[in-house]
Amino acid sequence: MPILDPFSLEFFSKSGEQTRRLGTRLGSALLVGDVICLAGDLGSGKTTFTQGIAKGWGSLDVVTSPTFVIVNQYKKPEGTILHHMDASGALVIEWPDRIKAALPEEYLWIDLTWVDEFQRRMVFTPVGDHYRSLLTAFRQKAFGG
Ligand SMILES: Nc1ncnc2c1ncn2[C@@H]1O[C@H](COP(=O)(O)OP(=O)(O)O)[C@@H](O)[C@H]1O
Ligand SMILES: [Mg+2]
Repeated sequence: MPILDPFSLEFFSKSGEQTRRLGTRLGSALLVGDVICLAGDLGSGKTTFTQGIAKGWGSLDVVTSPTFVIVNQYKKPEGTILHHMDASGALVIEWPDRIKAALPEEYLWIDLTWVDEFQRRMVFTPVGDHYRSLLTAFRQKAFGG
């Protein structure tokens, strides 16, 4: 998928906790209807990152891997739901490369790569104006600039 384009953001996370914190920053910037594609091999941190997203989104629910269920749902106390699924369009999609044809026109694509035991490379690539704005908001929340 998208290699580094001018709007992409590259980051090296040094721990699962750091990945989770980063997810929290992204989750707090999300709007209803946003689509986040998490691409990366097993163990690259997709579910760990989603734990942060759900927390930042405002959910107190426990996040587990969606690999063995059709869809996980994390509810906010006020009722809005974050859908977390492996293979169809919603908010957080693991293995999105498998359903490219079903993806909406615009989304935030995140590539996660295992570097070593504790390090993961993360590349955030926005597709569409809305996701460029989202990434700008995320960059400010996460890195302050
Ligand atoms: N920098 C890091 N970012 C994310 N996870 C990390 C990192 N360093 C170590 N880990 C560990 O790697 C594993 C990632 O698993 P998981 O998030 O389930 O991956 P995936 O959903 O992509 O298969 C977890 O056990 C996590 O603690
Ligand atoms: Mg997973």
